[in-house]
Amino acid sequence: MPIAVALDGPAGAGKSSIAKKAAKALDYIYIDTGALYRTIGLAAARRNVEPIPSNEVEKLLSEIKVDLTFNEQGEQIVLLDNEDVSGLIRTPEASMMASKISAIPAVRAYLLDLQRSMAKSQNVIMDGRDIGTVVLPDAQVKIFLTASPEVRAERRYKELVEKGMNVNYDDILNDVIERDYNDTHRETAPLKPADGCIIVNTTDIDFEQSVKKIISVIKENV
Ligand code: DC
Repeated sequence: MPIAVALDGPAGAGKSSIAKKAAKALDYIYIDTGALYRTIGLAAARRNVEPIPSNEVEKLLSEIKVDLTFNEQGEQIVLLDNEDVSGLIRTPEASMMASKISAIPAVRAYLLDLQRSMAKSQNVIMDGRDIGTVVLPDAQVKIFLTASPEVRAERRYKELVEKGMNVNYDDILNDVIERDYNDTHRETAPLKPADGCIIVNTTDIDFEQSVKKIISVIKENV
């Protein structure tokens, strides 16, 4: 049976960059499930769908096709109706849209099979909010990766500035706090540590130390 590592935690805890590097070292596939919610958020924004009335969202879900694939470098590509939207889903607006749309049960149900099917035939580190609690509750390793809101905002700020974006630290901190609130207070699959998970807090450790820690937690538990 393939090995599944469920990696959950709040926005900006460094899950994706840490997990990508750990997956490479262990020769596992890294799957970023947030990209799927972002893609649906983008589809909703393009059609000016207000995410709260769910009948409009359900109609949207019946009309779009979301797929996940990998390029030659093994990087994940998300497709919206066969268009590669991997870059378009990375703006702060897309983050907020994804956070809102991910509270809708129909959206979560729509993405469930796609996520589960990815873990059926290969060793994966799957990054999200409800991987250990809902998507892969039987994962061999469950990790909850977290850090203080200030440290997470600071990391995201640096990342966006490096990409040449004109951003403000306080706006990012407010976004982090708002997204944490949305993610932990929604009724369906709220963000919370899964039963039996290992909590890794990266507030006081750097990127390389975090990668080492995740690799050692995985090795100790498989
Ligand atoms: O990991 P991310 O920041 O790219 O995720 C974008 C949004 O999607 C985030 O606000 C929470 C939501 N999400 C979720 O509800 N469940 C997941 N498994 C992954 C992401």
